Amino acid sequence: MNRFEGRKVLITGAGSGIGQATVLRVLEEGGHVVAADIAEAGLDKTRAQAAEAGTEARLSTVTVDISDEESVRENAGAAIGKLGGLDVLVNAAGILDSRHTETMTLDFWNRIIGVNLTGTFLMTRQALPALLATGKGVVINFSSTSASFAHPYMAAYAATKGGIQSFTHAIASEYSKRGLRAVCVAPGSISSGMTHNPGLPDDTDFDLLAKLSPALGKGFAGPETVAGAIAMLASDDGAFITGTELRIDGGTHM
Ligand SMILES: NC(=O)c1ccc[n+]([C@@H]2O[C@H](COP(=O)([O-])OP(=O)(O)OC[C@H]3O[C@@H](n4cnc5c(N)ncnc54)[C@H](O)[C@@H]3O)[C@@H](O)[C@H]2O)c1
Repeated sequence: MNRFEGRKVLITGAGSGIGQATVLRVLEEGGHVVAADIAEAGLDKTRAQAAEAGTEARLSTVTVDISDEESVRENAGAAIGKLGGLDVLVNAAGILDSRHTETMTLDFWNRIIGVNLTGTFLMTRQALPALLATGKGVVINFSSTSASFAHPYMAAYAATKGGIQSFTHAIASEYSKRGLRAVCVAPGSISSGMTHNPGLPDDTDFDLLAKLSPALGKGFAGPETVAGAIAMLASDDGAFITGTELRIDGGTHM
């Protein structure tokens, strides 16, 4: 399949997990990709994997902190300019950390909101002029099963994912007449950097947490599972899908 031939795609969180898998998938399907991440070491690994797959020529990388307005304006803005336009933005960058809510500091709360929710806004705002210029731009945002199903200790994280869902619905309707589609993926139980270290409290009630384990006994899936769904949603195969979310959790929540 060459669904991204001639298309320009910017993917954040591209140095690890789902973002990285999505970079490799879009390259494999013929796209030109800018891989963006705060972590240069992660971007080096992504570049090495693209080289192994023989798709490196269509990849460029940019270091950007999505929670920082200036970094987004300068670094992401320059990357979009260099690419000469943008067809798809994939807002995969995010952080997960967990606390008891009663001892959650404002700094902790603001850190999670700043990256996940504000970062999604800042990147989307930066990309919108280029996306709207194509007349069929696509934004893929990252919600989570935590937006709709209880995730103890993750009140800040879950709040960002609910907010991202609402943000996505708003821009999907606001720009639909200008051809923009905006869709959320809502993954759960995907093996990645953040799920290897979710930062759970020492006294975590694992019986309570067990409610989150896959009901179908499938365990954690690889990030390429989500990348495949994103490739469908962001390509013309997803042409009639907008203002909604696709849950990708192996049946953990039904
Ligand atoms: N893994 C899961 O089960 C799961 C479930 C639901 C939602 N998600 C969402 O999927 C997305 C991808 O996460 P993942 O699971 O691949 O985790 P991951 O930790 O492997 O990847 C996240 C990437 O985001 C980057 N990042 C963090 N802060 C950044 C910043 N300020 N600016 C730019 N880049 C930054 C990190 O460096 C990292 O490369 C996230 O939005 C996450 O919330 C994941």
